[in-house]
Amino acid sequence: MPSTSQNSPFEFRVALAGLGTVGQGVVRLLQEEGPRYRERFGIDLQLVSILDRSYQQKDTSWISSSVTWTESLEDFLGTPSDIVVELIGGMDPADQIIRTGLEQGKSVVTANKLVMARCGTEYLKLAARKNSYLGFEASVAGGIPIIRLVSHSIFPDRVSQVRGILNGTCNFILSEMADGGRDYQDALTQAQSLGYAEVDPALDVSGGDARDKLAILSTLCFHTGIGPDEIPTRGITELVPVDFLYARKLDSTIKLLGVAARKGENLCLRVSPFLIDNQLPLSKISGVLNAVEVTGATVGSVLISGKGAGEGPTAVSVMADILNAARWKRDTSGAQVAPGMECGSESGQFDQMVSCGEDERYPFYVRFIVKDRPGITATLTHILAEREINIDLVLQERWSDRSNLPFVITVEPTLYSSMQEAVAEMKKLDFNRVEPFALPMLKE
Ligand SMILES: NC(=O)c1ccc[n+]([C@@H]2O[C@H](COP(=O)([O-])OP(=O)(O)OC[C@H]3O[C@@H](n4cnc5c(N)ncnc54)[C@H](OP(=O)(O)O)[C@@H]3O)[C@@H](O)[C@H]2O)c1
Repeated sequence: MPSTSQNSPFEFRVALAGLGTVGQGVVRLLQEEGPRYRERFGIDLQLVSILDRSYQQKDTSWISSSVTWTESLEDFLGTPSDIVVELIGGMDPADQIIRTGLEQGKSVVTANKLVMARCGTEYLKLAARKNSYLGFEASVAGGIPIIRLVSHSIFPDRVSQVRGILNGTCNFILSEMADGGRDYQDALTQAQSLGYAEVDPALDVSGGDARDKLAILSTLCFHTGIGPDEIPTRGITELVPVDFLYARKLDSTIKLLGVAARKGENLCLRVSPFLIDNQLPLSKISGVLNAVEVTGATVGSVLISGKGAGEGPTAVSVMADILNAARWKRDTSGAQVAPGMECGSESGQFDQMVSCGEDERYPFYVRFIVKDRPGITATLTHILAEREINIDLVLQERWSDRSNLPFVITVEPTLYSSMQEAVAEMKKLDFNRVEPFALPMLKE
């Protein structure tokens, strides 16, 4: 193989927006590993400009003096560069930075799940029209190369299902509740003190963050443009310690999952806590780790797991996109189609798939906390029988407080909508101390 170091390296000018956690990680990599990239890949990444609204309040003394600093979006957008790296987060001005970069024919890299989930298909179409490179590896599961896996490796197969632990904060809280016996609030406080949860954890614990990532993955795996608002989403705040007690009895654990499954021409999407059988590989993913399992008709199931966030892991994903963009530009002078999404978006077309309700079936776990009295089980079984829902098990541990008595019913695979109807009916019953709570189950 010819050594690229004998030739003069290919200069690639980088403009970076947002010197926060990920931005600093990227600059650190650029400075520390830049010589190796030059030597190894023949690519000379030159950081030419940084946009940050508060750079004057930050310690920037460690960053090369050749960088031009600005707080002005207009100046930043006008700066000559080959690639724009958007690491600000949020909708604005991230959206404007990405669109302008693509319109200008520059390569664009972003770690921003919020904009990718809402505008990703538009960006992909714009990138296809302008033949620009668009990289967003870090927008889903931080350091895990899941975008590359689905768009460059599994793409020849017909993907039937994607399911993943896509939020490290929730996975940490649920692991603490399962293994440490903590209640939700206690586990959240622990996550915050370790820096795993934001002061305002709403986006994570509501399932909103996982939903955005699932929307991006679904676009790639199923070549469809379903937006995050179309994904039924439930977070982890309703879980109580007794759920983990009964999960253990059922040889299972509880994880917040994003699931997208093809059913005929429809796509069933959901973000929810699931009761997962301990035999399933996803049940073993603990703490802040993320994991995604992709199932293809021919390849079968592929599971990838690792660090879904953090300065270093996320910066590596961003850097992989930057280096790939530079290689493409160097090797083809932009004459070939930008290596974006072999899974189908070069055409800029996305299928209209219907988000399903009809075909989504799961076995369910339903937890009750009641003021004990005769006839409770008979009332509940009647509600289930009316909807042709078959009971699998009734579980009741010894409990001293009969006025707050927890017990669990599990049911055989049932339409999601029928189960929701049954639970809505059960919520009206006056013996409830806490509203009944149903979780879909994943079994081997
Ligand atoms: N952190 C992770 O582990 C992780 C993992 C995967 C993906 N991501 C994604 O990566 C992106 C960046 O995340 P982060 O954690 O690095 O965020 P961050 O620490 O909040 O950094 C954002 C930076 O952008 C600056 N900024 C915000 N609004 C601006 C504006 N209007 N103009 C100029 N500068 C502005 C901020 O300045 P101030 O300091 O003044 O706020 C801050 O320096 C997000 O899209 C996030 O979802 C993050």
